[in-house]
Amino acid sequence: MKKEWFRVRRIKFFDTTLRDGEQQPGLNLNREEKLKIAKQLDRLGVDIIEAGFPASNEGDFYSVQQIARAVKKSSVTGLSRLSKSDIDTAWEALKDSPEPRIHLFIATSDVHIDHKLMSTQEEVIQDSVEAVRYAKERFSVVQWSAEDACRTDWDFLKHIMEKVIEAGVDVINLPDTVGYTTAQEIRAMFHHLKENVKGAKDITLSTHCHDDLGMAVANSLAAIEGGADQVECTINGIGERAGNASLEEIAVALHIRHDHYGAEQNLTLQEIKRTSSLVSKLSGNVVPGNKAIVGNNAFAHESGIHQDGVLKESSTYEIITPELVGVDANKLVLGKLSGKHAFQNKVSELGFDPPEDELKRVFKAFKQLANKKKDISDDDIFALLVADKSEN
Ligand code: KIV
Ligand code: ZN
Repeated sequence: MKKEWFRVRRIKFFDTTLRDGEQQPGLNLNREEKLKIAKQLDRLGVDIIEAGFPASNEGDFYSVQQIARAVKKSSVTGLSRLSKSDIDTAWEALKDSPEPRIHLFIATSDVHIDHKLMSTQEEVIQDSVEAVRYAKERFSVVQWSAEDACRTDWDFLKHIMEKVIEAGVDVINLPDTVGYTTAQEIRAMFHHLKENVKGAKDITLSTHCHDDLGMAVANSLAAIEGGADQVECTINGIGERAGNASLEEIAVALHIRHDHYGAEQNLTLQEIKRTSSLVSKLSGNVVPGNKAIVGNNAFAHESGIHQDGVLKESSTYEIITPELVGVDANKLVLGKLSGKHAFQNKVSELGFDPPEDELKRVFKAFKQLANKKKDISDDDIFALLVADKSEN
């Protein structure tokens, strides 16, 4: 049954691998590596690449400038505090891009305003309005983020959002900065603000979730259900602390469950595996084998019942085809739980067609070996096939 909010709409992907992703402890990409990743993100078809934080250091400035000049299809943006000097620096870095875009941010939760900014709600509103107006005189697209939005009082959020909308903002991002929210809460927050903030339906609302409780992807998808039109994420989910929502998981979930989300996107999904491998290699961040979509085991089957099912009809145990995300084929891993069907399949792949009694003998020998050895290679099977019968 279609949900009440079901309608087909276009979701924009805002990739922040090179900014929030690079905030992962110990990660440090040089300019050449960042440019390589940006070009691959462009091939993947992300709508927006956040290339860095130009005022934070010279390296980021030149890297953002280089990416803004090199990338033509995706829009390029850079993070900026609300000060005029940060905005001017961002402008110098981004002015040569085909669609100069800035990402302003300020915290809005009480805990951040009181203890980090040591400021007041009134000051945060005033600084935000001034910064949006100033940035609008230069940039084609101005995004403003309410850092720690998910722990911010909704009435205050509504008030400040209306003020920055009046000042001319194009995109408002409502981050779950500390990965605290639940799917139900963030869905309700987006729904409430979209319905009740004056002008919210005329701008883009964006979601940006962190993974401290392992819920970043589920929360991003829930925000989309609540009305977010843009989703901010990183490749392989890299980022500060437990990381950000992972782009590949959101993209494939939206694709496979189009019936549920009704979301169109611009990504070329076949580029996903390649992009993940590139980011993993350059960042030194190893992708766990069981990571959804891009882990080495994402399309591997080991148990006999699953292998038999997949050999008969892949959709029995695969909801995603490996080809969809640029993986050549699924893997039937031979181990102690594997059954005769998968074993026979491997024997044929190796070019053998033994009679039934010989197949039984080799299968028995394979099971004995698999009980002692974890990784069974093609060479192991080959050795069993050509072994003298008396050896078993
Ligand atoms: O997590 C966050 O709040 C951020 C903002 C700077 C957008 O990364
Ligand atoms: Zn973040």
